[in-house]
Amino acid sequence: MGKIFAITSGKGGVGKSTVSAGLSLALSSLGYKVLLVDMDEGLRCLDLMLGIDNQVVLDLSDILQGREISDAVYKVQENLYLVPAPQKLGMIDAFSLANFANEVKALYDVVIFDFPAGIDFSLYTSIPKDALFLTVAFPDAVTVRDAAIVSGLLAEKGCESRLIINRFDYKISKRKVYKNIDDIIDEAQLQLIGIVPQSSELQLLSLGQPLKKNGKPMKALIRISKRLMGQQILLPKINKI
Ligand SMILES: Nc1ncnc2c1ncn2[C@@H]1O[C@H](COP(=O)(O)OP(=O)(O)O)[C@@H](O)[C@H]1O
Ligand SMILES: [Mg+2]
Repeated sequence: MGKIFAITSGKGGVGKSTVSAGLSLALSSLGYKVLLVDMDEGLRCLDLMLGIDNQVVLDLSDILQGREISDAVYKVQENLYLVPAPQKLGMIDAFSLANFANEVKALYDVVIFDFPAGIDFSLYTSIPKDALFLTVAFPDAVTVRDAAIVSGLLAEKGCESRLIINRFDYKISKRKVYKNIDDIIDEAQLQLIGIVPQSSELQLLSLGQPLKKNGKPMKALIRISKRLMGQQILLPKINKI
């Protein structure tokens, strides 16, 4: 049975899809068979980020309406597969999604659901109970507080979550433009699972530029991936992120 991760955030634009794509690339490079599911109805983007947009014909809504799962699963690279989001709103119903999630859990080592931002939780409970939610925020008090609100609401529904800080910039953190990142996270009472650096490599992902194997973003994503899969990996020194 595979592990399920669901990517969420309070605010939009904090990098959920970038982190989802990055983690799926990292996990597949570690040898796990990964299925990435784009849940952003009407605003799909992972097909573009992962360079397969010109192949997409069917999407998640076709599976939920009865097509074979394999009909809307697109191969991105060795070990990495994507189900694109529907192009129209209102095409994902909770019951069919729950069936789909249970089926793919048995077929892949890892399934990552990239949810849209916000606190519309109607579909979260369709994801199997043992899923781990990953809430993405910037290294600032506002988005971390929003992440804490989302995590609190998830906890009320019995869902466990961890925090991923995205777009971390050591130079800016040194200038004390924002409060110390540890303080922000402590105040929000969130469990941090990793930090992804601010990086032009991640920004250029959607232009079809692959991540460098030994670049900082990929190294950060590999560390998070290993932790997600149960390995004990220490956070690096903050100036090495
Ligand atoms: N770590 C990062 N470094 C640089 N740019 C990033 C990073 N993460 C996200 N971005 C950029 O931020 C924008 C929003 O990211 P996206 O993943 O679409 O956010 P969301 O899915 O939360 O709406 C995109 O232009 C993306 O390239
Ligand atoms: Mg997104």
